[in-house]
Amino acid sequence: MACRICSGRLHPFADFGSQPLSDAFAAPGGPADPFAFDLAVGVCADCSMVQLLEEVPRERMFHAGYPYLSSGSSVMRGHFESLAKRLLATELSGPDPFVVELGCNDGAMLSVIADAGVRHLGVEPSGGVADVAAAKGVRVRKDFFEAATAAAVLAADGPADVVYAANTLCHIPYLDSIMEGLDTLLRPGGVFVFEDPYLGDIVERASFDQIYDEHFYYFSATSVRGLAHRHGFELVDVERLPVHGGEVRYTLARRGARTPAPAVAELLAAERAAALHDPATLQRFADRVAATRERLVALLTGLREQGARVYGYGATAKSATVLNYCGIGPDLITFVSDTTPAKQGRLTPGSHIPVRDPGAFADPYPDYAVLFAWNHAEEIMAKETGFAAAGGTWILYVPEVHLV
Ligand code: SAM
Ligand code: TMP
Ligand code: ZN
Repeated sequence: MACRICSGRLHPFADFGSQPLSDAFAAPGGPADPFAFDLAVGVCADCSMVQLLEEVPRERMFHAGYPYLSSGSSVMRGHFESLAKRLLATELSGPDPFVVELGCNDGAMLSVIADAGVRHLGVEPSGGVADVAAAKGVRVRKDFFEAATAAAVLAADGPADVVYAANTLCHIPYLDSIMEGLDTLLRPGGVFVFEDPYLGDIVERASFDQIYDEHFYYFSATSVRGLAHRHGFELVDVERLPVHGGEVRYTLARRGARTPAPAVAELLAAERAAALHDPATLQRFADRVAATRERLVALLTGLREQGARVYGYGATAKSATVLNYCGIGPDLITFVSDTTPAKQGRLTPGSHIPVRDPGAFADPYPDYAVLFAWNHAEEIMAKETGFAAAGGTWILYVPEVHLV
Protein backbone atom coordinates (compact mmCIF):
# COMPACT_ATOMS: atom_id res chain seq x y z
CA MET A 1 0.00 0.00 0.00
CA ALA A 2 1.34 3.39 -0.99
CA CYS A 3 0.75 6.79 0.61
CA ARG A 4 -1.78 8.91 -1.31
CA ILE A 5 0.41 11.99 -0.69
CA CYS A 6 4.00 10.87 -1.34
CA SER A 7 3.82 7.21 -2.50
CA GLY A 8 5.74 6.23 0.65
CA ARG A 9 5.19 3.00 2.55
CA LEU A 10 2.06 2.79 4.68
CA HIS A 11 2.17 1.10 8.06
CA PRO A 12 -1.38 -0.13 8.89
CA PHE A 13 -2.31 0.19 12.59
CA ALA A 14 -6.07 -0.21 13.02
CA ASP A 15 -8.68 -2.26 11.19
CA PHE A 16 -12.44 -1.91 11.72
CA GLY A 17 -13.47 -4.59 9.24
CA SER A 18 -16.17 -4.36 6.61
CA GLN A 19 -18.21 -1.16 6.91
CA PRO A 20 -21.13 0.46 5.10
CA LEU A 21 -21.23 4.06 3.88
CA SER A 22 -21.56 6.09 7.08
CA ASP A 23 -24.27 8.38 5.73
CA ALA A 24 -26.36 5.79 3.83
CA PHE A 25 -29.58 5.68 5.86
CA ALA A 26 -31.81 3.15 4.09
CA ALA A 27 -35.62 3.13 4.23
CA PRO A 28 -37.09 0.22 6.28
CA GLY A 29 -38.08 -2.70 4.06
CA GLY A 30 -35.91 -1.37 1.23
CA PRO A 31 -33.00 -3.18 -0.43
CA ALA A 32 -30.10 -4.33 1.76
CA ASP A 33 -27.08 -2.02 2.03
CA PRO A 34 -25.56 -2.19 -1.42
CA PHE A 35 -22.01 -1.15 -0.62
CA ALA A 36 -19.34 -2.20 1.84
CA PHE A 37 -15.63 -1.52 2.10
CA ASP A 38 -12.74 -2.36 4.44
CA LEU A 39 -12.16 0.40 6.96
CA ALA A 40 -8.52 0.41 8.03
CA VAL A 41 -5.97 3.15 8.67
CA GLY A 42 -2.23 3.46 8.24
CA VAL A 43 0.55 5.99 8.77
CA CYS A 44 3.06 6.89 6.06
CA ALA A 45 6.61 6.06 7.11
CA ASP A 46 7.93 8.91 4.93
CA CYS A 47 5.55 11.90 5.27
CA SER A 48 3.62 10.92 8.47
CA MET A 49 0.20 11.32 6.87
CA VAL A 50 -2.40 9.07 8.52
CA GLN A 51 -4.95 7.86 5.99
CA LEU A 52 -7.46 5.20 5.02
CA LEU A 53 -6.13 2.20 3.14
CA GLU A 54 -9.19 1.97 0.90
CA GLU A 55 -10.83 4.88 -0.92
CA VAL A 56 -14.61 5.03 -1.40
CA PRO A 57 -15.59 6.67 -4.74
CA ARG A 58 -16.66 10.25 -3.98
CA GLU A 59 -19.97 10.07 -5.87
CA ARG A 60 -21.14 7.29 -3.53
CA MET A 61 -20.76 9.59 -0.52
CA PHE A 62 -21.48 13.11 -1.77
CA HIS A 63 -24.64 13.35 -3.85
CA ALA A 64 -28.09 14.97 -3.86
CA GLY A 65 -29.21 12.82 -0.92
CA TYR A 66 -26.21 13.55 1.39
CA PRO A 67 -28.02 14.12 4.70
CA TYR A 68 -25.59 15.99 7.00
CA LEU A 69 -26.51 19.58 7.87
CA SER A 70 -23.84 21.83 9.44
CA SER A 71 -26.48 24.01 11.11
CA GLY A 72 -27.88 21.10 13.16
CA SER A 73 -25.80 22.28 16.14
CA SER A 74 -26.22 25.74 17.67
CA VAL A 75 -22.62 25.61 18.89
CA MET A 76 -21.42 24.98 15.33
CA ARG A 77 -23.60 27.82 14.00
CA GLY A 78 -21.89 30.13 16.51
CA HIS A 79 -18.47 28.70 15.63
CA PHE A 80 -18.93 29.45 11.91
CA GLU A 81 -20.42 32.87 12.56
CA SER A 82 -17.42 33.94 14.63
CA LEU A 83 -14.98 32.58 12.03
CA ALA A 84 -16.83 34.48 9.28
CA LYS A 85 -16.69 37.70 11.32
CA ARG A 86 -13.00 37.22 11.98
CA LEU A 87 -12.28 36.73 8.26
CA LEU A 88 -14.36 39.80 7.40
CA ALA A 89 -12.32 41.88 9.87
CA THR A 90 -8.93 40.56 8.69
CA GLU A 91 -8.24 38.78 5.40
CA LEU A 92 -11.42 40.11 3.76
CA SER A 93 -11.10 43.77 4.84
CA GLY A 94 -9.43 45.05 1.63
CA PRO A 95 -11.17 46.39 -1.48
CA ASP A 96 -13.67 44.00 -3.12
CA PRO A 97 -12.55 40.84 -1.32
CA PHE A 98 -13.51 37.35 -2.56
CA VAL A 99 -13.76 34.18 -0.47
CA VAL A 100 -14.38 30.62 -1.67
CA GLU A 101 -15.55 27.87 0.67
CA LEU A 102 -15.08 24.21 -0.18
CA GLY A 103 -17.91 22.04 1.20
CA CYS A 104 -20.08 24.98 2.28
CA ASN A 105 -22.89 22.52 3.06
CA ASP A 106 -26.03 24.39 4.22
CA GLY A 107 -24.27 27.77 4.31
CA ALA A 108 -23.59 27.96 8.06
CA MET A 109 -20.43 30.02 7.39
CA LEU A 110 -21.09 31.65 3.99
CA SER A 111 -24.56 32.96 4.90
CA VAL A 112 -22.79 35.34 7.33
CA ILE A 113 -20.47 36.47 4.52
CA ALA A 114 -23.44 36.84 2.14
CA ASP A 115 -25.34 38.93 4.72
CA ALA A 116 -22.28 41.23 4.93
CA GLY A 117 -22.51 41.74 1.15
CA VAL A 118 -19.03 40.30 0.49
CA ARG A 119 -18.24 38.43 -2.75
CA HIS A 120 -18.17 34.70 -2.12
CA LEU A 121 -18.71 31.28 -3.66
CA GLY A 122 -19.47 27.94 -2.07
CA VAL A 123 -18.28 24.85 -3.95
CA GLU A 124 -20.52 22.02 -2.78
CA PRO A 125 -21.13 18.74 -4.67
CA SER A 126 -24.02 17.54 -2.49
CA GLY A 127 -27.03 19.06 -4.25
CA GLY A 128 -29.57 18.84 -1.41
CA VAL A 129 -27.47 20.72 1.14
CA ALA A 130 -26.28 23.16 -1.56
CA ASP A 131 -29.93 24.05 -2.19
CA VAL A 132 -30.37 24.82 1.52
CA ALA A 133 -27.39 27.21 1.33
CA ALA A 134 -28.72 28.85 -1.85
CA ALA A 135 -32.08 29.46 -0.12
CA LYS A 136 -30.15 31.50 2.49
CA GLY A 137 -28.75 33.77 -0.23
CA VAL A 138 -25.41 31.96 -0.60
CA ARG A 139 -23.89 31.73 -4.09
CA VAL A 140 -23.15 28.04 -4.67
CA ARG A 141 -21.56 26.04 -7.45
CA LYS A 142 -22.71 22.39 -7.29
CA ASP A 143 -19.41 20.74 -7.98
CA PHE A 144 -16.47 18.90 -6.46
CA PHE A 145 -13.54 21.27 -5.94
CA GLU A 146 -10.40 20.11 -7.78
CA ALA A 147 -7.85 21.67 -10.15
CA ALA A 148 -10.31 22.09 -13.05
CA THR A 149 -12.96 23.67 -10.80
CA ALA A 150 -10.41 26.18 -9.53
CA ALA A 151 -9.55 27.20 -13.10
CA ALA A 152 -13.24 27.67 -13.92
CA VAL A 153 -13.85 29.75 -10.79
CA LEU A 154 -10.78 31.92 -11.51
CA ALA A 155 -12.02 32.55 -15.06
CA ALA A 156 -15.49 33.54 -13.84
CA ASP A 157 -14.72 35.42 -10.61
CA GLY A 158 -11.01 36.23 -10.49
CA PRO A 159 -8.56 35.31 -7.73
CA ALA A 160 -9.59 34.59 -4.15
CA ASP A 161 -8.21 36.27 -1.02
CA VAL A 162 -9.22 33.30 1.12
CA VAL A 163 -10.16 29.72 0.42
CA TYR A 164 -11.76 28.11 3.47
CA ALA A 165 -12.79 24.53 4.21
CA ALA A 166 -14.19 23.03 7.43
CA ASN A 167 -14.47 19.29 7.86
CA THR A 168 -14.02 18.92 4.13
CA LEU A 169 -10.31 18.73 3.23
CA CYS A 170 -9.91 15.52 5.24
CA HIS A 171 -12.73 14.09 3.08
CA ILE A 172 -10.73 14.53 -0.14
CA PRO A 173 -8.17 11.84 -1.13
CA TYR A 174 -6.99 13.74 -4.24
CA LEU A 175 -5.09 16.50 -2.43
CA ASP A 176 -2.58 16.98 -5.25
CA SER A 177 -5.41 18.28 -7.43
CA ILE A 178 -6.70 20.44 -4.55
CA MET A 179 -3.26 22.01 -3.95
CA GLU A 180 -2.89 22.67 -7.67
CA GLY A 181 -6.32 24.30 -7.61
CA LEU A 182 -5.35 26.49 -4.65
CA ASP A 183 -2.23 27.64 -6.47
CA THR A 184 -4.45 28.58 -9.42
CA LEU A 185 -7.18 30.31 -7.45
CA LEU A 186 -5.45 32.13 -4.59
CA ARG A 187 -4.09 35.63 -4.99
CA PRO A 188 -0.27 35.76 -4.45
CA GLY A 189 -0.79 36.87 -0.84
CA GLY A 190 -3.95 34.81 -0.27
CA VAL A 191 -4.43 32.11 2.34
CA PHE A 192 -5.99 28.67 2.55
CA VAL A 193 -7.62 28.14 5.95
CA PHE A 194 -8.99 24.73 6.85
CA GLU A 195 -10.05 22.88 9.99
CA ASP A 196 -10.41 19.15 10.54
CA PRO A 197 -10.30 16.59 13.36
CA TYR A 198 -6.79 16.58 14.85
CA LEU A 199 -4.81 13.34 14.97
CA GLY A 200 -3.36 14.38 18.34
CA ASP A 201 -6.85 14.54 19.87
CA ILE A 202 -7.98 11.31 18.20
CA VAL A 203 -4.99 9.43 19.64
CA GLU A 204 -5.21 11.08 23.07
CA ARG A 205 -8.97 10.46 23.41
CA ALA A 206 -9.03 7.12 21.57
CA SER A 207 -11.85 8.66 19.52
CA PHE A 208 -11.81 5.86 16.96
CA ASP A 209 -15.25 6.84 15.66
CA GLN A 210 -13.61 9.76 13.85
CA ILE A 211 -12.43 7.03 11.49
CA TYR A 212 -15.01 6.35 8.76
CA ASP A 213 -15.37 6.38 4.97
CA GLU A 214 -15.66 10.16 4.55
CA HIS A 215 -12.64 10.94 6.75
CA PHE A 216 -9.85 9.87 4.42
CA TYR A 217 -7.05 11.81 6.20
CA TYR A 218 -6.27 12.41 9.90
CA PHE A 219 -4.11 15.53 9.85
CA SER A 220 -1.39 16.77 12.16
CA ALA A 221 0.86 19.85 11.95
CA THR A 222 3.68 17.53 10.85
CA SER A 223 1.78 15.92 7.96
CA VAL A 224 0.14 19.18 6.85
CA ARG A 225 3.48 20.98 6.80
CA GLY A 226 4.87 18.21 4.58
CA LEU A 227 1.86 18.40 2.25
CA ALA A 228 2.19 22.18 1.97
CA HIS A 229 5.90 21.99 1.15
CA ARG A 230 5.33 19.53 -1.68
CA HIS A 231 3.15 22.14 -3.39
CA GLY A 232 5.08 25.37 -2.77
CA PHE A 233 3.02 26.36 0.28
CA GLU A 234 3.95 26.82 3.91
CA LEU A 235 2.09 26.15 7.16
CA VAL A 236 1.95 29.64 8.72
CA ASP A 237 -0.54 29.20 11.56
CA VAL A 238 -2.30 26.55 13.63
CA GLU A 239 -5.09 26.94 16.17
CA ARG A 240 -6.49 24.21 18.39
CA LEU A 241 -10.30 24.14 18.30
CA PRO A 242 -12.60 22.51 20.86
CA VAL A 243 -15.35 21.59 18.35
CA HIS A 244 -16.05 18.09 16.99
CA GLY A 245 -13.96 16.42 19.68
CA GLY A 246 -10.80 18.42 18.98
CA GLU A 247 -9.69 19.98 15.71
CA VAL A 248 -6.91 22.14 14.37
CA ARG A 249 -7.42 25.13 12.08
CA TYR A 250 -4.44 25.32 9.70
CA THR A 251 -3.46 28.36 7.63
CA LEU A 252 -1.34 27.85 4.49
CA ALA A 253 0.26 30.62 2.45
CA ARG A 254 2.65 30.52 -0.50
CA ARG A 255 6.17 29.79 0.67
CA GLY A 256 7.87 32.96 1.87
CA ALA A 257 4.71 35.08 1.71
CA ARG A 258 4.10 35.19 5.49
CA THR A 259 6.08 34.68 8.66
CA PRO A 260 4.88 31.52 10.44
CA ALA A 261 3.30 32.15 13.86
CA PRO A 262 5.14 30.67 16.89
CA ALA A 263 2.19 28.29 17.39
CA VAL A 264 3.36 26.26 14.37
CA ALA A 265 6.77 25.38 15.83
CA GLU A 266 5.12 24.73 19.21
CA LEU A 267 2.63 22.21 17.83
CA LEU A 268 5.32 20.52 15.72
CA ALA A 269 7.47 20.18 18.84
CA ALA A 270 4.53 18.80 20.85
CA GLU A 271 3.89 16.17 18.17
CA ARG A 272 7.57 15.16 18.22
CA ALA A 273 7.59 14.98 22.02
CA ALA A 274 4.45 12.80 21.99
CA ALA A 275 5.91 10.57 19.25
CA LEU A 276 2.51 11.05 17.64
CA HIS A 277 3.31 9.28 14.36
CA ASP A 278 5.33 6.42 15.87
CA PRO A 279 3.92 2.98 15.05
CA ALA A 280 4.19 2.12 18.78
CA THR A 281 2.00 5.13 19.76
CA LEU A 282 -0.56 4.24 17.12
CA GLN A 283 -0.55 0.58 18.20
CA ARG A 284 -1.38 1.69 21.77
CA PHE A 285 -4.30 3.66 20.31
CA ALA A 286 -5.52 0.51 18.51
CA ASP A 287 -5.25 -1.51 21.75
CA ARG A 288 -7.35 1.06 23.65
CA VAL A 289 -9.97 0.92 20.89
CA ALA A 290 -10.22 -2.87 21.13
CA ALA A 291 -10.70 -2.56 24.92
CA THR A 292 -13.46 0.03 24.38
CA ARG A 293 -15.29 -2.34 22.06
CA GLU A 294 -15.17 -5.13 24.65
CA ARG A 295 -16.44 -2.89 27.46
CA LEU A 296 -19.18 -1.25 25.44
CA VAL A 297 -20.57 -4.55 24.19
CA ALA A 298 -20.39 -6.05 27.71
CA LEU A 299 -22.20 -3.02 29.18
CA LEU A 300 -25.00 -3.05 26.57
CA THR A 301 -25.42 -6.82 26.77
CA GLY A 302 -25.70 -6.61 30.56
CA LEU A 303 -28.29 -3.84 30.32
CA ARG A 304 -30.37 -5.93 27.92
CA GLU A 305 -30.27 -8.82 30.38
CA GLN A 306 -31.51 -6.47 33.12
CA GLY A 307 -34.37 -5.36 30.86
CA ALA A 308 -33.18 -1.73 30.78
CA ARG A 309 -34.42 0.57 28.01
CA VAL A 310 -31.45 1.87 25.94
CA TYR A 311 -31.65 4.44 23.12
CA GLY A 312 -28.97 6.11 21.04
CA TYR A 313 -28.58 9.90 20.75
CA GLY A 314 -27.32 11.34 17.43
CA ALA A 315 -27.21 9.15 14.32
CA THR A 316 -23.75 10.51 13.52
CA ALA A 317 -21.58 9.31 10.66
CA LYS A 318 -19.13 8.44 13.46
CA SER A 319 -21.66 6.03 14.97
CA ALA A 320 -21.50 3.83 11.88
CA THR A 321 -17.96 2.81 12.86
CA VAL A 322 -18.96 2.15 16.48
CA LEU A 323 -22.09 0.15 15.68
CA ASN A 324 -20.61 -1.96 12.90
CA TYR A 325 -17.22 -2.52 14.54
CA CYS A 326 -18.91 -3.55 17.81
CA GLY A 327 -21.74 -5.50 16.17
CA ILE A 328 -24.42 -3.44 17.95
CA GLY A 329 -27.92 -3.65 16.46
CA PRO A 330 -31.57 -3.06 17.38
CA ASP A 331 -31.42 -5.88 19.97
CA LEU A 332 -29.14 -3.67 22.10
CA ILE A 333 -30.29 -0.14 21.15
CA THR A 334 -34.01 0.29 20.41
CA PHE A 335 -33.67 3.42 18.28
CA VAL A 336 -31.42 6.42 17.73
CA SER A 337 -32.81 9.94 18.15
CA ASP A 338 -31.65 12.53 15.59
CA THR A 339 -32.71 16.03 14.50
CA THR A 340 -31.77 15.56 10.82
CA PRO A 341 -34.91 15.24 8.67
CA ALA A 342 -33.19 13.08 6.02
CA LYS A 343 -32.15 10.49 8.66
CA GLN A 344 -35.51 10.19 10.49
CA GLY A 345 -37.74 7.22 9.66
CA ARG A 346 -34.70 5.42 8.24
CA LEU A 347 -32.22 2.82 9.51
CA THR A 348 -28.64 3.30 10.66
CA PRO A 349 -26.21 2.06 7.99
CA GLY A 350 -25.26 -1.60 8.34
CA SER A 351 -26.61 -1.92 11.89
CA HIS A 352 -30.27 -1.24 10.94
CA ILE A 353 -31.36 0.59 14.09
CA PRO A 354 -34.39 2.83 13.47
CA VAL A 355 -33.75 6.59 13.56
CA ARG A 356 -36.51 8.68 15.13
CA ASP A 357 -37.11 12.36 15.73
CA PRO A 358 -36.10 13.83 19.12
CA GLY A 359 -39.73 13.86 20.29
CA ALA A 360 -39.56 10.06 20.61
CA PHE A 361 -36.59 10.34 22.98
CA ALA A 362 -38.75 11.79 25.77
CA ASP A 363 -41.78 9.61 25.16
CA PRO A 364 -40.91 7.97 27.52
CA TYR A 365 -37.25 8.64 28.36
CA PRO A 366 -35.01 5.56 28.27
CA ASP A 367 -33.02 4.34 31.27
CA TYR A 368 -29.76 4.78 29.33
CA ALA A 369 -28.76 6.71 26.21
CA VAL A 370 -25.57 6.12 24.23
CA LEU A 371 -24.32 9.57 23.26
CA PHE A 372 -23.05 9.01 19.72
CA ALA A 373 -22.93 12.80 19.21
CA TRP A 374 -20.46 13.08 22.13
CA ASN A 375 -18.71 15.94 20.35
CA HIS A 376 -21.87 18.00 21.02
CA ALA A 377 -22.19 16.75 24.63
CA GLU A 378 -22.36 20.15 26.31
CA GLU A 379 -25.08 21.43 23.95
CA ILE A 380 -27.09 18.21 24.16
CA MET A 381 -26.87 17.74 27.93
CA ALA A 382 -27.91 21.37 28.41
CA LYS A 383 -31.08 20.82 26.40
CA GLU A 384 -31.86 17.29 27.67
CA THR A 385 -31.98 18.09 31.38
CA GLY A 386 -35.35 16.27 31.49
CA PHE A 387 -33.54 13.00 30.76
CA ALA A 388 -31.27 13.32 33.80
CA ALA A 389 -34.21 14.56 35.91
CA ALA A 390 -36.13 11.41 34.94
CA GLY A 391 -33.23 9.32 36.25
CA GLY A 392 -31.63 8.65 32.87
CA THR A 393 -27.92 7.88 32.48
CA TRP A 394 -25.68 8.81 29.55
CA ILE A 395 -23.28 6.21 28.18
CA LEU A 396 -20.10 7.60 26.61
CA TYR A 397 -17.27 5.58 25.05
CA VAL A 398 -14.65 8.32 24.56
CA PRO A 399 -11.97 8.39 25.96
CA GLU A 400 -13.21 5.12 27.49
CA VAL A 401 -16.59 3.65 28.37
CA HIS A 402 -18.13 5.63 31.24
CA LEU A 403 -21.51 6.66 32.61
CA VAL A 404 -22.67 10.24 33.27
N1 SAM B 1 -18.21 22.62 6.10
C1 SAM B 1 -19.35 22.00 6.72
C2 SAM B 1 -19.14 21.79 8.19
O1 SAM B 1 -18.01 21.88 8.67
O2 SAM B 1 -20.12 21.50 8.89
C3 SAM B 1 -19.72 20.68 6.05
C4 SAM B 1 -18.85 19.51 6.36
S1 SAM B 1 -19.44 18.01 5.64
C5 SAM B 1 -18.89 16.88 6.84
C6 SAM B 1 -18.34 17.75 4.27
C7 SAM B 1 -18.81 18.47 3.02
O3 SAM B 1 -17.77 18.41 2.02
C8 SAM B 1 -20.05 17.84 2.42
O4 SAM B 1 -21.08 18.81 2.36
C9 SAM B 1 -19.56 17.36 1.04
O5 SAM B 1 -20.56 17.41 0.05
C10 SAM B 1 -18.40 18.29 0.76
N2 SAM B 1 -17.37 17.82 -0.19
C11 SAM B 1 -16.90 16.58 -0.38
N3 SAM B 1 -15.95 16.57 -1.36
C12 SAM B 1 -15.81 17.85 -1.78
C13 SAM B 1 -15.01 18.49 -2.78
N4 SAM B 1 -14.13 17.83 -3.53
N5 SAM B 1 -15.15 19.83 -2.94
C14 SAM B 1 -16.03 20.54 -2.20
N6 SAM B 1 -16.82 19.98 -1.25
C15 SAM B 1 -16.71 18.66 -1.04
P1 TMP C 1 -21.78 15.44 13.79
O1 TMP C 1 -21.19 14.90 15.06
O2 TMP C 1 -21.14 14.88 12.56
O3 TMP C 1 -21.90 16.93 13.79
O4 TMP C 1 -23.27 14.86 13.73
C1 TMP C 1 -24.20 15.17 14.73
C2 TMP C 1 -25.46 14.37 14.51
O5 TMP C 1 -26.25 14.44 15.71
C3 TMP C 1 -26.35 14.91 13.39
O6 TMP C 1 -26.98 13.81 12.73
C4 TMP C 1 -27.37 15.76 14.11
C5 TMP C 1 -27.50 15.07 15.45
N1 TMP C 1 -27.80 15.95 16.56
C6 TMP C 1 -28.98 15.74 17.28
O7 TMP C 1 -29.73 14.82 16.99
N2 TMP C 1 -29.27 16.59 18.32
C7 TMP C 1 -28.44 17.62 18.65
O8 TMP C 1 -28.74 18.37 19.58
C8 TMP C 1 -27.21 17.82 17.91
C9 TMP C 1 -26.27 18.93 18.27
C10 TMP C 1 -26.93 16.95 16.87
ZN1 ZN D 1 3.47 9.81 2.58
